[in-house]
Amino acid sequence: MKIDYQEPSKDLLMRIDIHEKYGSANIDVWTNDLLKPQAGMKILDVGCGAGKLSFLFNEYTKGGAQITGGDFSNELLDKAREKNKKVGANIDFQFLDFNQKFNFPDNTFDLCTSAFAIYYASDLDFTFGEAHRVLNKGGRLFVSGPLPENKQMFYDIIKEATNATIPPMPGSSRFKGDIFNTIDKIFAKTELHKFENHLTFPEVSPFIDYVRASLGEDRKLWTSMFNGKDEYEALIGKIETVAKKWIERDGKLVMTKVVGGILATK
Ligand SMILES: C[S@@+](CC[C@H](N)C(=O)[O-])C[C@H]1O[C@@H](n2cnc3c(N)ncnc32)[C@H](O)[C@@H]1O
Repeated sequence: MKIDYQEPSKDLLMRIDIHEKYGSANIDVWTNDLLKPQAGMKILDVGCGAGKLSFLFNEYTKGGAQITGGDFSNELLDKAREKNKKVGANIDFQFLDFNQKFNFPDNTFDLCTSAFAIYYASDLDFTFGEAHRVLNKGGRLFVSGPLPENKQMFYDIIKEATNATIPPMPGSSRFKGDIFNTIDKIFAKTELHKFENHLTFPEVSPFIDYVRASLGEDRKLWTSMFNGKDEYEALIGKIETVAKKWIERDGKLVMTKVVGGILATK
């Protein structure tokens, strides 16, 4: 299955910022508690985007791990490299397309991570086979992504506003099934962990910022719902009307993110 997924940096950074401002729990703490990366480890972060996880591990290990971040978006890699310079880190950010052979020898890394990314792979056996190949024996793979019950309220508002069918989301529809099963088949041991985060919006505008950063035309996930800028704005207007109605009724909007973490050992 080919998925033509694109992530503009402004949308990704907006969503990260909204999670930080309105979330009740911190996914970074959950990730570090689960993985406890150590100085001296070699870590590969696949689909690293602007480097969120790579910088998290760099900070946690006080610069002691050897970290490589790979992504196929040059725009996001540039953002990551800018930050690398700014914070004086030494992370190697490089081009990596997870639908192609990874450019590393067998048995190179102790930890391979991918947050909200690798599940967009076209051929799961191939991509997770590559992750397995580049890991050392006993090395760990960690993949996070949305579970099917993720942000139900977000989809309910869109459904009420449009009466339209929500397009299938490659992450949540495949995470617990195909993705877990593929990893489980290839790796020696596989566990599923869960993280919940309640995002509470006291007013409509940050919620609409989140909607815009999720439905943007460039991401190519929601384009079945609109054609061109005017239809897009009309769609956002309808969602805003329903969100206002909900906030008048409930006093706030609460969207619960339900994230799965697949942790596997080679
Ligand atoms: C939702 S973002 C997550 C980024 C980052 N891991 C984070 O947690 O902020 C998804 C990332 O997957 C990357 N991506 C999508 N398809 C890819 C591919 N075929 N190869 C490498 N990266 C890809 C996108 O460029 C984007 O950076």
